[in-house]
Amino acid sequence: MVIVAASEAAIAQAAESLRRAELVGMPTETVYGLAADASSELAVARIYAAKGRPQFNPLIAHVASLDMALNEAVLDERALRLAARFWPGPLSLVLPVAPTGRVCELARAGLQTVALRMPGHSVAMELIRALGRPVAAPSANRSGRISPTSAQDVVAELGEQAALVLDAGPAQVGLESTIVAVLPGEAVRLLRPGGISREALLTVVDEIAVLPPGRIEAPGQLASHYAPRARLRMNVLAPEAAEIFLGFASHHREGSLNLSRSGDLIEAASNFFAMLRSLDASGATGIAVAPIPEHGLGAAINDRLQRAAAPR
Ligand code: TXA
Ligand code: MG
Repeated sequence: MVIVAASEAAIAQAAESLRRAELVGMPTETVYGLAADASSELAVARIYAAKGRPQFNPLIAHVASLDMALNEAVLDERALRLAARFWPGPLSLVLPVAPTGRVCELARAGLQTVALRMPGHSVAMELIRALGRPVAAPSANRSGRISPTSAQDVVAELGEQAALVLDAGPAQVGLESTIVAVLPGEAVRLLRPGGISREALLTVVDEIAVLPPGRIEAPGQLASHYAPRARLRMNVLAPEAAEIFLGFASHHREGSLNLSRSGDLIEAASNFFAMLRSLDASGATGIAVAPIPEHGLGAAINDRLQRAAAPR
């Protein structure tokens, strides 16, 4: 990964990389992010692979204007007030997905909500504008490690996983954004404390629900995660008559979908939600999934399948 001073030309080059579904290190005011085109399942799969996350946690999609946000999500009056007061800045809003939304399903980890943030950093804003659509970016560290606040940190964490990192000096806030959910029929809920305090939020909204201690929601575990209606079985070599098959690599059946004929786990992750959804929509009562190896993104796919297979 090369470190490039964040000039206009370098930002244009980074936007080209994003268009090719490559990853780019992006400075923001909170921490450096590992950026990808949020509308590309392949690019987003590459983020999960680079971070070595054992789960598909939903990602924050970064926008460069209120119009871009309104295209992606439904902002009620409370959300509009929060955005007007704190954007650009270290506040991410978890909102219902809009019908026109382009943030792909893998970036949302299958949820019907999307986390949006307008970063308070001119380089990030210019990169998003140059791409012309939202940029998905988790903190640019490997899973479970400290978030990077410099371009050098990004290289140390992720080495060859990204084409380039735009260097804009140290991140100012050094702490990730505050995440709040603003969903219909619910009080505004603080999901992650961060750069903007609860007190500051309360100057704009009347009420903020905080989860009781010990019940911090790890979003990967949310019960509201998309689960198929059909019964799902994993590690199946021979489907039963009533089951529809989802193959992987050489575990393939004529006329069935296959997550990746070549056994590429990044390709499998990029196909995962769309294929599961289309099998479910076919009205099958059972879905049988071929064995997925437990390495790389296979672990995240198996984690997701386990949740989908759990009795409800
Ligand atoms: O400051 C930041 O927010 C940085 C910079 C790069 O913008 N980004 C960041 O992303 O911290 P990440 O992926 O490390 O944390 C994003 C978190 C997820 O782990 C999840 O907790 C939450 O955002 N999240 C995203 N979408 C969500 C959703 N639809 N519902 C609930 N939580 C969501
Ligand atoms: Mg993080």
